[in-house]
Amino acid sequence: MKKNAIVLILAIMSFLLIRCGNESANNTSEQTGNVLEDTAVYNQYLSAGAGYASEAGKVLIKNLTGAINSNGPAYAVQFCNTRAIPLTDSMSSALHLISLKRVSDRNRNPDNKANEQELEYIELLKPNMQNGEAAKPKLMEAGDKITGYYPIITNTMCMNCHADKSKIDSKTLAKINELYPSDAATGYAENQLRGLWVIEMEKKK
Ligand code: HEC
Repeated sequence: MKKNAIVLILAIMSFLLIRCGNESANNTSEQTGNVLEDTAVYNQYLSAGAGYASEAGKVLIKNLTGAINSNGPAYAVQFCNTRAIPLTDSMSSALHLISLKRVSDRNRNPDNKANEQELEYIELLKPNMQNGEAAKPKLMEAGDKITGYYPIITNTMCMNCHADKSKIDSKTLAKINELYPSDAATGYAENQLRGLWVIEMEKKK
């Protein structure tokens, strides 16, 4: 109940942010139809999207950590298998987004495979990160839709299920192999680009 209230407040705040931003940008959008050319508007959508990605991330991490702590990582793999996509889908509708999803160039679930545009951005971020730059988010505009790409970076906890196969507990690895025969999401170290949150927002009129 408390969580729902927070989500609702976040959604309202983001909605207001986007509305206010768009009203101040009317001149630009009338001339070109491209609202993101206005830096202030760009930044408003960027931070609204970041709020959505971070909120969805928190919900996933909370559920994942809960599953690991209660029944161990092998059970948590099973949990992610049945719950990850339904959870992100329900966040998407609670936040009134067109869609919210996680994608990767080295995906575990075939449904999370990055498309051409998403892959292009992932490939752009990788060398930047190797040069020590932070992985930045980015927005794209198409028709009535604004799409935000927000990098997902690995940490210690992720290593339970995304590290080198030799470092994953054998029961956990067996579960991963059973549920995802074409898994490509192992072999990661900490602080690497694991994929993107892709947040599709409606352009406010
Ligand atoms: C308990 C095992 C486990 C842990 C720990 C874990 N993941 Fe995953 N991860 C999975 C499973 C299983 C999937 C596939 C979910 C599905 O079927 O939708 C997945 C999918 C993903 C995806 C979606 C793309 C894809 O490959 O399908 C991303 C991104 C991701 N994980 C990032 C992370 C990050 C970042 C962390 C650490 C913060 C993490 N994971 C921790 C098991 C885990």
